[in-house]
Amino acid sequence: MNSIAEITDKKPEFVDALLDWYDHNARTLPWRISPEAKRGGIKPDPYHVWLSEIMLQQTTVATVKSYFEKFMEKWPTLEKLAEADLDDVLTEWAGLGYYARARNLYKCARTIHDDLGGNFPKTNDELLKLPGIGVYTAAAISSIAYDIPETVVDGNVERVLSRLCQIETPLPDSRPEIRGHAEILTPDYRPGDYAQALMDLGATICTPKSPKCGSCPLQEDCLARKNDLVADLPRRKNKKEKETRRGYVFWAEYDGKVWLRRRPEKGLLGGMMEVPSDEWAPSNSWQNIPTPRIPIIANWKLLPGVVRHTFTHFHLELKVVKLQLEEMINLQEGEWCDIDKQDQYALPTVMKKVFNHVGQPLLDL
Ligand code: ADE
Ligand code: SF4
Repeated sequence: MNSIAEITDKKPEFVDALLDWYDHNARTLPWRISPEAKRGGIKPDPYHVWLSEIMLQQTTVATVKSYFEKFMEKWPTLEKLAEADLDDVLTEWAGLGYYARARNLYKCARTIHDDLGGNFPKTNDELLKLPGIGVYTAAAISSIAYDIPETVVDGNVERVLSRLCQIETPLPDSRPEIRGHAEILTPDYRPGDYAQALMDLGATICTPKSPKCGSCPLQEDCLARKNDLVADLPRRKNKKEKETRRGYVFWAEYDGKVWLRRRPEKGLLGGMMEVPSDEWAPSNSWQNIPTPRIPIIANWKLLPGVVRHTFTHFHLELKVVKLQLEEMINLQEGEWCDIDKQDQYALPTVMKKVFNHVGQPLLDL
């Protein structure tokens, strides 16, 4: 026999093996209540679970830890976050990327505070109505915060289940199949710990490269291991190459200040601050990029080198042109900002790179 029934028939053993592994190997994470503490009667705080799960979408645990702790210091309760200024939230979020998450986070806090009496909903259906909460986050909150048996599928779970159940259809086409198996395997007993156990297993044992099958609690059941397919799964459809876009940013400086403007609410880096730039044009080389469309006629200088950053759908290369002003004049919309206080502005990572680039001393060869 070589089929998924081999796994589903042994669901109780599979669940026990995974939970037992989690009891001894759960990672200590600032938003997590350990299995031991839960047995002692401590319940997860839905505010912590929600905030961490929003941060962890598209961002690694290692990066999220310090951001989560900063948020807890600044806004220890949902109420405090709901009473904050959006711009402060964006400023603290700066560097985490996917800034729509931060705006939705804030909207969601406001909704729960203003319309739901400050109480976090428990069920999937209610959670799904809130801004920024999709299928993944709703299931993560109801299972981890409330121990409701919802099925949580993230990238880690996709990888573990593709291997365990030997799903050979490439991602993303295999998603419905993976979800089907994941739903069958989700237990009624300790569903929150189960969800976190699968994620931890994917992050520490069943890793993308060189998984540690010899230490895996599921090694006896794993179909990919049995059939020597671990290194081949999960399969993925060929992804399209990302295009590169190129453009110029205009660094205007006066007396330790730089001219910044806020990006429109909608779209990429929505609501974040930026050094003004002209169009980011798709192009194979700088030779096809028109000369910089400078915002005012003045003595702009081109800095050597380029700033590189990668977004979800494209690579970006920016050249910086700089203007040293002797008097304070305003350049269209925006404001003068202290260069050495960059942490106090909602600057996305690409703009922090521009700051660092401009701060480099110029070297004579
Ligand atoms: N990745 C996303 N959410 C997680 C969680 N709750 N525990 C571990 N890893 C995660
Ligand atoms: Fe992943 Fe290996 Fe465990 Fe299978 S045995 S689930 S491939 S770590």
